[in-house]
Amino acid sequence: MPSPDGASDESKDMTQVYFNGQWVAPDAAKVSVFDRGFLFGDGVYEVIPAFGRRLFGAAAHLDRLTRSLHEIGIEDPLSRADWLAVLARLVADCPTDDVSIYIQVSRGAPAKRDHAYPNPPVPPTVLAAANPLAALSPSVLKEGARAITVPDVRWGRCDIKSVNLLPNIMARQQAVAAGAMEAILVREGMALEGAASNLFAVIDDELLTAPLGPHILGGVTRNALIDLVRRDRLIPLLETPIPIDRLFDAREVFVTSSTRDLLPITRINDHVIGTGVPGAVWQRLSAAFAAHKAGASV
Ligand SMILES: Cc1ncc(COP(=O)(O)O)c(C=O)c1O
Repeated sequence: MPSPDGASDESKDMTQVYFNGQWVAPDAAKVSVFDRGFLFGDGVYEVIPAFGRRLFGAAAHLDRLTRSLHEIGIEDPLSRADWLAVLARLVADCPTDDVSIYIQVSRGAPAKRDHAYPNPPVPPTVLAAANPLAALSPSVLKEGARAITVPDVRWGRCDIKSVNLLPNIMARQQAVAAGAMEAILVREGMALEGAASNLFAVIDDELLTAPLGPHILGGVTRNALIDLVRRDRLIPLLETPIPIDRLFDAREVFVTSSTRDLLPITRINDHVIGTGVPGAVWQRLSAAFAAHKAGASV
């Protein structure tokens, strides 16, 4: 349960975080060295955005959190109403109107390190914290971003939003080192998704994206965009993995995520995508998504 307002209001000038049922200053939130999140990466997370102080897609993010927890055998520590109360307070207290909320739940800190789950279970470690969310720069939206391709060396349960992100962060770091904004992960010749985003390509007048399954994360932005595309018949859509050579020849490519919406990709490795600037489909879908965002909440 979130504690009542002001329960531990020792640091009024710092935005507090929700930590194991308390509201505390960020530097007062301390995790045990035996926490299984720290020792094993034994936990899951979510990133939930708010725009203009309105949560966007919170229900879908909390559904995914519940699912990730269920898949790794941790009981959801908060009810839906309590999660929403925590999110609402974080959004209200954040100094900026656009907010990215980070939630992490790990399997807690038993006395002894052991690979097997503690039996009986110990209380999970629960964190929720807000960060200001910066919009994409106008130049990226005008010119598009660069991406690189990287072999997908992740495990076989990428549908779980696990805090085990070593392959993802190594791939993203490779992208940053190459002056790119995203790494596109390629498994057996198929471009599946980004290091922290889902992948879409316009090929032969169809919009392609990888199907849900163990090899990708079911992105909330991906799923909302697909619903919108199908509902308003914006473009024929195929959920199918994208062969890497077809990706390089695509008319348009973009990636989706909660913090970057639809990010146009105009260069991949040495290939210029389409005309080299964000295309008409991206423009139409971005506008439709922005309108959806303005109208939708929670
Ligand atoms: C591997 C991966 N795929 C896709 C996404 C996009 O998911 P969402 O749209 O829910 O932010 C993310 C987000 O962090 C991710 O890490």
